[in-house]
Amino acid sequence: MFEVLPQLPADPILGLSTAFKADTNPNKIDLGVGVYKDEEGRTPILNTVAKAQTILLGKEDSKTYITPQGVQGYIDGMLQLMLGKGNPVLLADRVAAVQAPGGCGALRILAELIKRCDDKLTVWVSDPTWANHIPLIGNSGLNIETYPYFDKDSASIKFDAMIDCLKQVKKGDVVLLHGCCHNPTGADLTNEQWQIVLETAQQTGFIPFVDVAYQGFGDGLDEDAFGMRLLVNNLPEVIIAASCSKNFGLYRERVGIAVMVTPNTSIRQAIQTQIQSIARGIYSMPPSYGGALVDIILNDETLRAEWQSEVEDMRLRMQDLRGLLVSKLKENGANKDFEFVKKQKGMFSFLCITPEQVQAVRDKHSVYFVGSSRVNIAGISKTNVDTLAKALVSVL
Ligand code: LMR
Repeated sequence: MFEVLPQLPADPILGLSTAFKADTNPNKIDLGVGVYKDEEGRTPILNTVAKAQTILLGKEDSKTYITPQGVQGYIDGMLQLMLGKGNPVLLADRVAAVQAPGGCGALRILAELIKRCDDKLTVWVSDPTWANHIPLIGNSGLNIETYPYFDKDSASIKFDAMIDCLKQVKKGDVVLLHGCCHNPTGADLTNEQWQIVLETAQQTGFIPFVDVAYQGFGDGLDEDAFGMRLLVNNLPEVIIAASCSKNFGLYRERVGIAVMVTPNTSIRQAIQTQIQSIARGIYSMPPSYGGALVDIILNDETLRAEWQSEVEDMRLRMQDLRGLLVSKLKENGANKDFEFVKKQKGMFSFLCITPEQVQAVRDKHSVYFVGSSRVNIAGISKTNVDTLAKALVSVL
């Protein structure tokens, strides 16, 4: 049976970790997979997560199944974090939600939900978008198209072209938007541009599908939710997939949430049963552990405040590293202006160099990042930044 299937190439993002591990160069630098790293290159367990683990160990008295929608305190805490406490759509009982195994699990079950609603519609994704968006959504059988987003030559968003394209999409089509910290480019819409996206959705009738994997890593927890909240507060239907991998550092625990803002309570009730039946048909129900930790943190005032400051520390460190990289590139005589890196937000930057230059810096200097020129800013440190800048300058 298996003979018919060929060996596949390595995953464009995850494959970088394998190649990095196998590299024997002691000065190798890993700017590949999007995980936060501290100055020593470690991905630590957040203090608040460690505390929540101790609390959970002391109070969990059963491993029986949780409910199909997941840990209720997790869902309530996440909805408040994402949509804001007391959001009218929450008070109006218009929001269906399930805990999902990671942001990926949420994207996958939401794609299945979209397909159940209408298997002929198109999902529009930004060009470029996160490499795994296309398999996660496309494997459900939905048609995928791209809208213009980022111009490599000017290192900025092609906003007019984006809006011209979104004005042409069919009523009922779905448009995937990155809530903040666009992956892979780090180029985010301004609040004014979000307003225009909202007006375009109101005119054409497309349904926004917001992916929020980095809330708190751009400008702050509330600031990063601006676009998502604007859409949710002004449209009858919005779909959201969110992840706790990055801002809670819970990567391996697979903690995500699928959220569906619906026009009214009776539709909300129907959609809640649909999304649960989709999850039941794929993996039955989410694991409890990571959601239970987030529940403990978000629903305890002291832990929540401490977690907010941990997120802020990660955010500010990444912002400093952007400035440091740009000044080191200048200092080492780069013949290209990298100032744009300072304006990009979150964990990633697009260096806007060619795939050949990315390959050359890997082959000659053991610096690993995605072929599109996406670097994980958190992989930079005060110790490696000079080596990194010299390596980059040598291939420009
Ligand atoms: C990334 O974009 O590097 C992360 O979200 C990890 C992944 O699954 O690709």
